[in-house]
Amino acid sequence: MKVKKGILIVFEGIDGSGKSTQVQLLQKILADKGMDVVVFWEPSQSPWGKKIKEKAALPDSLSPEEELELFVEDRKDNVQKNLNPALIKNKIVLLDRYYFSTMAYQGAKGIDVERIRRINEQFAVHPDLVFILDVEAEKGLNRIQDRKSKDLLFERQDFLVEVRKIFRSFQGENIFHIDSGNTPDDISDQIASIVLKYINKFLYI
Ligand code: TYD
Repeated sequence: MKVKKGILIVFEGIDGSGKSTQVQLLQKILADKGMDVVVFWEPSQSPWGKKIKEKAALPDSLSPEEELELFVEDRKDNVQKNLNPALIKNKIVLLDRYYFSTMAYQGAKGIDVERIRRINEQFAVHPDLVFILDVEAEKGLNRIQDRKSKDLLFERQDFLVEVRKIFRSFQGENIFHIDSGNTPDDISDQIASIVLKYINKFLYI
């Protein structure tokens, strides 16, 4: 079931790309203008999302296909329980990660990216705007100080280089690649201007 009346705005990017900060900044900008905004995340709080988080502590404890299945089941739940109910009430929904993450991360683990897209687009409500925050893998990792051991760091960095490549390949009229090297306020201004333009068009045509 795909449902939509409100506006769905998705934030994507590799680990450390600054998505979560931008979600918070945009939430405040829109709420200050009196708009009805709500924020959701993936992985979500569903049983599948919880399982993903448990397994995340044990790298490679799942095969790429098992990961794909968990992310898809988690997303079906999120679409049905969170996104659609908010959209049908005309809310502006900000979403921290969506199926572009599955295409990029599970794609970088060898699963066909277009197959991942097809599986998701069968049930996932279409986003109005997608912001992909772009940062070099090394910089992103430095930001989150994900440095358990040198080996793990390098392994992760190589992987994120691949993930980033896939994110950068996404094209579409609703997809915006944002350079995450600027200050958070500059990035936020850039995003807010795109969002406000879209909202004005959406509301008055
Ligand atoms: P998350 O908790 O959102 O971490 P972050 O704060 O970095 O955004 O996501 C956890 C990890 O799950 C993150 O490394 C990205 C990965 N992930 C996938 O591999 N596939 C997916 O479909 C999603 C939504 C996330």
